[in-house]
Parts: sequence; C-alpha cells; structure tokens
Amino acid sequence: MTVPVHAVVVGSGIAGLTVALHAVDHGCRVTLVTKDVLEHANTRYAQGGIAGVMFDDDRVEDHIRDTLVAGAGLSDPAAVRVLAEEGPARIRELIDLGVAFDRDADGGFVKGLEAAHSYPRILHSGGDATGTAIEKALVARLRASDVRVIEHAFLIDLVVREGRVSGIELLVGDRAATRLSPAMRGRRETIDADAVVLATGGAGELYAHSTNPAVATGDGIAAALRAGAEVRDLEFFQFHPTVLPGWDGAHEPAARDAFLVSEAVRGEGATLIDETGHRFVFDVHPDGELAPRDVVARAIAHRMELQGGRPVRLDATHLAAAGDDSAAFLARRFPTIDRAVRDRGLDWAREPIPVTPAAHYLMGGVTTDLVGRTTLPGLYAVGEVARTGVHGANRLASNSLLEGAVFGSRAGDAIAQDAASGSWTTAAVRTAADLRAEPPAGDAPAFSRAALQTLMWDEAGLVRDEAGLGHAAAVIARWRAGIRAPQTEAEYEDENLLVLAESLVAAARARRESVGAHFRRDAAPAPAATVPTAQETVPC
Ligand code: SIN
Repeated sequence: MTVPVHAVVVGSGIAGLTVALHAVDHGCRVTLVTKDVLEHANTRYAQGGIAGVMFDDDRVEDHIRDTLVAGAGLSDPAAVRVLAEEGPARIRELIDLGVAFDRDADGGFVKGLEAAHSYPRILHSGGDATGTAIEKALVARLRASDVRVIEHAFLIDLVVREGRVSGIELLVGDRAATRLSPAMRGRRETIDADAVVLATGGAGELYAHSTNPAVATGDGIAAALRAGAEVRDLEFFQFHPTVLPGWDGAHEPAARDAFLVSEAVRGEGATLIDETGHRFVFDVHPDGELAPRDVVARAIAHRMELQGGRPVRLDATHLAAAGDDSAAFLARRFPTIDRAVRDRGLDWAREPIPVTPAAHYLMGGVTTDLVGRTTLPGLYAVGEVARTGVHGANRLASNSLLEGAVFGSRAGDAIAQDAASGSWTTAAVRTAADLRAEPPAGDAPAFSRAALQTLMWDEAGLVRDEAGLGHAAAVIARWRAGIRAPQTEAEYEDENLLVLAESLVAAARARRESVGAHFRRDAAPAPAATVPTAQETVPC
C-alpha cells in the first residue's frame, strides 16, 4: 500500500482553501494550519468582487490586455493568460460550491465595473460582501472534507532538510489565551510534510494605514526569505485610493480603523472631489476616477498634501437606480459600506464622504512558476504571498480572488505529481535555525510596530525617494540588530515585518525609475512599457 503524500497548507483564504481542497481530491493527506480561525483571512474583507470573462460579449483577450496594461508592462504574459483563460471555470466551481453571485431580475449576473477594466466583468455577492460569501462556501466545503485543520497555529519557520522543504515549525495557541487552556498555550510543534504550501496572504501591517486585517504580517514571505527562496517585486505595494479614514488626515489615528470603500462605488459613478469641489483626477488621467489604481491613489495623496493633509471627498450622492433613491440604492448595492459609513455618523446619500489612500495589496512575493512551485524544492506559494507574475507593477481590481482560485487549483493539482516523482534537485543544505541571524550587541533606537508602520508610510509609501528610503534602511537595520530573539507570536510577527520591510526597502532603492505602484519623486518615469497585443501574448 502506498503512503499518501502529505501536504501542509499554511493559510485559510481563497488560495489556501482551494489548494487544500484540490490536493485532498487527488488523494493527498492534507493538513491546513491557520494563525487565527479558518474564516479570519484577508479574503473575507474583499468587497468589489471577482473578475472573469463570464458574459458572451466580453473577451478573454480583453481581460488579458486590461491586466497587462494595469501591470505597466511588468506582468508575465503567460501567467496572465492562465489567469484569464482558466478564471471562468474556477468561478463556475465557486458557484457550484454555493457562492450566490448577485443576479438581476432576468436571472443574469449583475455586471460590476472597476478601474482599468474595459468591460464590466466583476461579479459580486451580497452587493459588496463577495469575499465573505466565497470564504464561507469554501470553509463549509473544507469542514466537510478530510482536510485536518489546526487553528491558532503560527508559522515560525519552514523546516529545510537536505535542500528540500520538509515541514513547518509552529507556535500553537499563543494568542488564543482566552479560548485555550493555559497548558495549551504557546506549544511548539513541528509537522513533517512532503509539500508545504504558503498561502499566508499579504503584509498590510507594514504600514500605518491599511485595509488589511491585523493578521497580515507577511509571515510566509519572511519564512521563505529565511529559508532561501527567491522573492521578487517587493517594491510593488498597492495603495487603495479610497478608505474611510480612522484619522482626519492631520492627526494620527487612535486605532487602525480605516475601512475600505470599494472601487465598485466609483464604478457605479461616484466622483472624487477636492475641498473646492473640483474633480481633480481628470487633471492627471483621461479616465478620471476609473484610471489605474496607482494613478488615482497618488492623485489623492497629492491633493491631500495641497490641502494640508485633509482627506478628499467621494461623492456618491447622485447614485440611484430605477425605483431607488440614492439612500435606498447605496444600502442595497453596498450594504457593508453603507453600515460602516453610517456607523461613523456620515450620510453618504446626502454628503460626500472623506476618503484617503491606504496600503492594500502586495504585488510581489515568493517567486513561483505557473503551478505555484517556488525555487525551493518542496515549497509552493499561492495567493498574495506569491509572485506569480500576474500583477506586474500594479494589480488590476478584482484579479486577486481570481488569482487565488486559479493558481490555488493548479498548485493543488501539481502537488501529488511533484512529490511522488521526486524530480526536484537537491539544493545546498540550509536549516531555518541557521538562517535566523543572532542579533549583534549594541545600542538601537526603541522599536515598536507603530514606529515601523509610520516609518514605512512616510518613507516607503505612495511616493518615495533615495533620501527617505536610505533613512528607512538605516533605521530598520538598527532595529533588526537590536531586537531580541522572539518568544511570543506578536514578537515573531514583529521580526517578520522587519525582515520584509528590509527587503521591500532594498527593492525600492534598487528600482530607480518610477513604474506602476512604485513611484519615486527623484526619478524619471520608466519608458512607456509596450504591452503585447492580444495576438502577441504567449499561449500556454
Ligand atoms: C475594492 O473593492 O475596491 C477592492 C477590490 C480589489 O482590491 O481587487
């Protein structure tokens, strides 16, 4: 009797859940570990929807082209083709799992438009609760499967033996003190595996203002860096143009309570205005509010600078639909945002609301091929932690859920085959313990996560230059040298954030031109990228 391949998946968003379900369907023994509860992943917060060619008058070639243009010519055309061609089948799988995308009176899917899409190809569920609907359906399916689940399990490091990733080291239950018995807290555990899949999501916690939940601390990328995997494109961090600020622009927030206001609101026709009522985004781009995300975010940041740091306004007061006035339309189309707006004492059916940019999505990550294989044997990466090449320098709206579904499914299919064939070569022996540097002695300025977030926001945020990046690099190096060996989950997270900050800043210093989300005030823009025509893109 052959022993089934054991795959360990770290993370429980759309990518992690998809890879686990596909691998278990192939007869793998699958363990899924997640640092909080299953449902608490970034996926749950996705509002706008999922992009895919689901309508007869849309074309895969147009989705490819929109993605390449948004990526400023730095996407990998082969990866983009996979995404657009396989996306519709993955969306149909989600529908089969019970995700109820919104439909019109005739039973057809409601079309949603977001920035830089040439066609309204975004499907949404519950108005603006698409991520929640997808997460719920996938979690229900996972709970009914043979996948073993370990919650409240924090990834300390990858285990590397004889040049191959062969397991993970976990800290279990450290943060769930109130829910687990004291004997269960902070238990260290090693799990052996034939394949490890990183699906740990992004790193919004790097920045003072972020749309991400607090679990997004870049743990997978930091562990991959320590283990020696290749990481690329970390300089490309996307800032979402519109969040309801938890601060007034002039003062620091008391809490990290920025709330995403979906691009779909602008897709429905909401406008951005400054304090004089001027629609300023048209000053910098002919597509105005629906220009690529990086362009709109920078236009807002610049306008805020001109008006003393105060937020610009998003005007949705004129949005309405047949039979609905503005208040009814906004409550029906965007119920989650409507609640958040009203909880803050604002009435967006009557008054434009304050909005500012915030850190949203990391385009770079652990380098993978088209089935999620990283450069380390035994290690895969899927979802935001991965750099598949799909997003280039700027991700097209609503391509992230799609990427998780498409490449999660491909990685799940590849795992059994790869681990059984044992075809990977053996790299130099490195262990995670060898790779965590001992802190040298010496003085260092006081480190706090909030100080790191402010430094990153100020020096490695929407607009960068060598002086600021150099300053950030020096401060981070001193913090790295001074930080004591982590013991708790929060301390491990801090270390991961510092590892990632160091690499991101180094990547931003190395890329001397402005391109996509990486904008340097001290450099000329990169020469305009040539985006391949649909015919020129590479078929698989
Ligand atoms: C949004 O709803 O604006 C966010 C969607 C995305 O990041 O793709």
